[in-house]
Amino acid sequence: MAAPPLLLPIVSETAHWVRLGTTGEGFEASPARPLLLSAEAAGIDWPSSCRNGTCRTCMQRLRAGEVSYRIEWPGLLAEEKAAGWILPCVAHPESDLVVTSPWDEDAPERSPG
Ligand code: FES
Repeated sequence: MAAPPLLLPIVSETAHWVRLGTTGEGFEASPARPLLLSAEAAGIDWPSSCRNGTCRTCMQRLRAGEVSYRIEWPGLLAEEKAAGWILPCVAHPESDLVVTSPWDEDAPERSPG
């Protein structure tokens, strides 16, 4: 009789560094959790409400790096995504990131939502 397969969790989690563009602050973010949760764990006070990608309260601007979404259609227009807008409550970091907030001086106007 063959031995049962060994069921061990595969640990492939690599944390990425998220730099906040205007302050130079940063925090580590796991690709396994939404960016908002990692920010909050690091003491960053980003606004949020629904936490499911629909209300757009948490919008941030991605200046460098890549995020992915585990939901079909986060509440962003294709043009907003192309312009770098992300929803941290449902965005998972796939690389190191540079992020700015809509209220940062150098960030362009955010789309009405
Ligand atoms: S908190 Fe509502 S879209 Fe992110």
